[in-house]
Amino acid sequence: MMTIGLDDVIAAETVLSDVDGLQGRLVMRGRSLDDLAGHVGYEAVMALLFDGFFEHAPASWQAALGAARQEVFEHLSFADPALVAQEPIDAMRALTARIADGDESATALRLVAAPAVFTAGLVRLRKGLRPIPPDASLGHAADILRMAGLPAEPLQARALDTYLVTVADHGLNASTFASRVVASTRAGLVSSVLAAISALKGPLHGGAPGPVLDMLDAIERADHARAWLEAVLDRGDRLMGFGHRVYRVRDPRADALKSALGPLLQDGRADRERAALAQAIEAAALDTLRRRKPGRTLETNVEFYTALLLDALGFQRDTFTCVFAMGRVAGWIAHAREQASTGRLIRPQSRYVGPPVGEAQER
Ligand code: ACO
Repeated sequence: MMTIGLDDVIAAETVLSDVDGLQGRLVMRGRSLDDLAGHVGYEAVMALLFDGFFEHAPASWQAALGAARQEVFEHLSFADPALVAQEPIDAMRALTARIADGDESATALRLVAAPAVFTAGLVRLRKGLRPIPPDASLGHAADILRMAGLPAEPLQARALDTYLVTVADHGLNASTFASRVVASTRAGLVSSVLAAISALKGPLHGGAPGPVLDMLDAIERADHARAWLEAVLDRGDRLMGFGHRVYRVRDPRADALKSALGPLLQDGRADRERAALAQAIEAAALDTLRRRKPGRTLETNVEFYTALLLDALGFQRDTFTCVFAMGRVAGWIAHAREQASTGRLIRPQSRYVGPPVGEAQER
């Protein structure tokens, strides 16, 4: 039997995360998202995901990650103007490719540091500013904000930390699968992460939150929402931030991120009017999708509130996918190590539907 898109195909056993699409539940190594998001820092979730996958684990993952940020910062000196002019996700991927491949925890830490340090540095270089060197004594989230030149008080650092934890791992999504396929060839962690970044950048996966903000800008006023959304569906396009391959109910990560946005709104650090517009658009979109796609349950996914949260923190929309990578990279690495430990090459079959021998048309 063949399934285009591999829906419902189980292609790996994992101890890392479980996505229950019917109950709307996400579990990472036996801990539910509700117990992690807002309660545990990113370094702790990274250590949870990495546990048992490396021969040599550092005494303190947080200190080792801080040191790795300082190490990879050196690569920013190779960001020439042509590279800086690329889309941030492409430039960040190119700099990540400078890291020597390997399977050690030291390589893993450099790879976790890479999207954070390179994205922050690239954002500065694009503005003609010098990159800000990492501060190894800070938590990862606080240092990301500081390096990017964004407000980095505990309120913002906590919100970004919650985001990074929320997206750290999520079953066999497209980028994680890409990471596992490469790891199964024994190519090494850098190769696995580069494949994963490439898969993440597409708008059907991690490239959606920028377009979510474009949608808010285009709609402008709550009373314009319905007509605008209907027109998108009339064109046969999709509403960004809605729908999911696995969830048939609301994505639990959407609520985790909505909660993280709350304190920023209360404190006046996030634009309340924009948040109110977003909520009105979300309600109109869900209603429109229910009417227009009655055969499918299409609910809000993680990208909708990602857009609002990262915007409130001051990230530019063309860097949202890079910020996603800053969180998901821990999951990619843990899955790559888990896949490599099976020793089994991933190599499915395809069914040939081309012309029989002798019937091929000359071109
Ligand atoms: N807007 C409009 N219609 C949609 C949407 C959407 N957001 N999502 C699915 N549909 C429709 C499809 O057009 C299709 O309809 P049809 O049968 O009439 O052709 C049907 O619903 C297919 O539904 P699914 O099988 O549930 O969707 P699929 O698994 O193919 O796609 C995906 C999942 C890619 C996430 C899709 O919902 C989508 O494109 N969403 C918008 C982009 C987005 O938000 N991506 C981020 C996803 S979360 C993440 O990866 C981190």
